[in-house]
Amino acid sequence: MLLHVPAVLTPSEVAEVRALIDAAEWVDGNVTSGPQSALAKVNLQLPEASPAALEAGAKVREALARSPLFMSAALPHTVFPPLFNRYRGGHTFGDHVDNAIRFQRDSGVRIRTDLSATLFLAEPDSYDGGELVIEDTFGVHEVKLPAGHMILYPASSLHRVEPVTRGERVGSFFWIQSLVREDARRTLLFDMDLAIQKLAQDAGQDSPAIVALTGSYHNLLRMWAEL
Ligand code: NI
Repeated sequence: MLLHVPAVLTPSEVAEVRALIDAAEWVDGNVTSGPQSALAKVNLQLPEASPAALEAGAKVREALARSPLFMSAALPHTVFPPLFNRYRGGHTFGDHVDNAIRFQRDSGVRIRTDLSATLFLAEPDSYDGGELVIEDTFGVHEVKLPAGHMILYPASSLHRVEPVTRGERVGSFFWIQSLVREDARRTLLFDMDLAIQKLAQDAGQDSPAIVALTGSYHNLLRMWAEL
């Protein structure tokens, strides 16, 4: 599932995050790459342990926790501490698949990357290029979203960032270990949750059919969840 999560951050939160990270010191983006992606990656990144990255990352995680759409779609077990990157002057990141396991030294957090996320932190008309191009079984998708919006996609997907030819593409990127490892199962639960919520609006939370469907949702989640 490829999901656009709109307005994860409000415009003023985007401005706060940008003020924090823009003032920090950036390094070569290959600090988090595996050997294959190091060849493909040309960009700048905030060091994982920099105070600005930690503070801005905490703001992103707070925003995610209050997004019902994100919670329902990702069913997060652990959200990896968000990282931040910027692309300018031809920076690009060629085709790659993200590493399966991520380890953060300071926090000791180790996760299986089920989902990848990119949160856009620059307005699309402020730069040219920089589209996130994601290939999945349904074809190729080009993604470039307003600041504060996020794209969520299976971490198993082949993807790239097109060269930035004008301006700066600033974003946050991170991974999620989901309670439900398989994309197909997670997608089914997400569709079911949306349908139940819609039905509940029309029929009322206490309708016997809604109670039964909600029970089935939880029983499927119980069957598939890994803690
Ligand atoms: Ni990637």
